[in-house]
Amino acid sequence: MSHIKGKNAIVTGAAVGLGNSYAKALAMAGANVAVCDVREEIETLPAELEALGVRSVGWRADVSNAEDVRRVVDGTLEAFGSIDMLVNNAGVWGASVADDDLDKTLEDYERIIGTNLKGEFLFGRAVIPVLLEQGKGGEIVNIATDHMVTCGAPNVICPNLPTCPWNNRDTPSFAFEGPPRPTGGGDIMDLYDASKWALNGFTFGWAKALRPHNIRVNAFCMGATDSYMLRSFNNFDPSPEEEASWMSAEDNAQALIDLLEEGPKGRTGENLNFCVGRPVKLEPPLAPIYIVQEDIDVVA
Ligand SMILES: NC(=O)c1ccc[n+]([C@@H]2O[C@H](COP(=O)([O-])OP(=O)(O)OC[C@H]3O[C@@H](n4cnc5c(N)ncnc54)[C@H](O)[C@@H]3O)[C@@H](O)[C@H]2O)c1
Repeated sequence: MSHIKGKNAIVTGAAVGLGNSYAKALAMAGANVAVCDVREEIETLPAELEALGVRSVGWRADVSNAEDVRRVVDGTLEAFGSIDMLVNNAGVWGASVADDDLDKTLEDYERIIGTNLKGEFLFGRAVIPVLLEQGKGGEIVNIATDHMVTCGAPNVICPNLPTCPWNNRDTPSFAFEGPPRPTGGGDIMDLYDASKWALNGFTFGWAKALRPHNIRVNAFCMGATDSYMLRSFNNFDPSPEEEASWMSAEDNAQALIDLLEEGPKGRTGENLNFCVGRPVKLEPPLAPIYIVQEDIDVVA
């Protein structure tokens, strides 16, 4: 039995990039999909999704604006009657460095933290009470980045996947011989990295609090994946080698589908890492890192 077919999902930031692939994959798997974005392309997406045989609604909305978030969540309830899944995807990237001027920094802070952190927080706060009131479980997936992890797990419990390039000393294109590898971003994007690190607080806190209610909360922290954002990062002119190294948004969306199909007994509180050079697929659950086994075992 599918855990997706006939369910109602919200995907934020779905006009282009990963969010667009998530929305399409969910629709193809039979979910009704509500979408929002600040870009105008969002206005034509519901028709595209409905052509896949599901219901869809969409809004021009800014995830950092509480009124917009309320409008999207209320509108989804009005259109579909209930909400089962939230993919907290909308995000922006921007360069920021430690010695940026205070005025520039405040603008960057509002934009980057406002979208990547406050936006996911607001959607969580708007959707979680709905999921609890409905009393039929649910799914939340927060989209983070690999900048915040060393292979998704602290060194001590690294699963040492044979497919992991960071463990593969025979792969010359990867400079590091074993975990932990350094986190990305760092000196050129402190605000972006801070916004994504902070998502761990929501992912693990919500996972623990909501497990007794059959609501799973996981995150994705992937490396370079082909999208509008990644292409803009490369001034829309990546080298062929660089482009060839990127993961595909469609593969990542399939991993989202596989995660959601685990259903209520599946993993929770995991920050799933998709690492360049490794197959983009759902790996078996890791040992719980930030929540204890008894919180995970709550679901009989
Ligand atoms: N592409 C990558 O390599 C990569 C790697 C790690 C993490 N991520 C994360 O994945 C998510 C999707 O990124 P992407 O690469 O698809 O980026 P993208 O720029 O291609 O798409 C992001 C979408 O979010 C929308 N958005 C931005 N700010 C918004 C706001 N305030 N309100 C509503 N919508 C807004 C954009 O308009 C766009 O449609 C982001 O959270 C990003 O940080 C991407």
